[in-house]
Amino acid sequence: MRRITRIAAVCLAGSVLSASSSFAQDPPKDLQKQIDQVKSTLPKFAIPMREVGDRFQNMYFAAKGDNWALAAYMSKYMNGAMNPASVTKPDEYKTWKSFYENTFAPVTKAIAAKDFKAFEPAYTAAIGACNGCHAGMGYGFIKVVKLGAPANNGIDYKIKSNPGDVPP
Ligand code: HEC
Repeated sequence: MRRITRIAAVCLAGSVLSASSSFAQDPPKDLQKQIDQVKSTLPKFAIPMREVGDRFQNMYFAAKGDNWALAAYMSKYMNGAMNPASVTKPDEYKTWKSFYENTFAPVTKAIAAKDFKAFEPAYTAAIGACNGCHAGMGYGFIKVVKLGAPANNGIDYKIKSNPGDVPP
């Protein structure tokens, strides 16, 4: 028993030593290279924008169906989908952040108030703003159009719910 403890202690000390010595051998430059490699695997705009597109379409049908929690949820994760871009495209992300927090605010406010009358014009105005950013960033050929049905039809859009029902 004691011998095992001693062996374990020696192994532990050895691994700590080798870990610290390998750390000492790794110059910060190499660490930076590794961070850059990890960063290069994170999505930029194109991948999260697909999710933005779908959640944006779904949001409309959730609001229309009085499933206000689903509408709030779609809005929350439409914004959350863009998080990787805060690392991979920090400058462009600032434009997204300001879009969501300011331009898109009438939509999120209408959802919070369960007010479809306010939601509809705010939503239509948002489509114009989405496309304004596309054009401004050289992607005028990506034009969002409102769908006649949700992008994802595997959810019930008509469950009556409240915007506050979304867990934090
Ligand atoms: C900050 C500017 C900006 C805003 C705001 C913005 N987009 Fe985009 N979007 C882009 C860029 C840039 C691309 C092209 C992606 C790329 O080349 O990496 C794009 C691409 C897309 C695509 C195509 C994705 C694909 O590859 O299939 C869709 C769909 C889309 N956006 C939907 C929307 C919707 C809906 C909104 C509004 C709720 C919106 N976008 C708001 C910048 C923006």
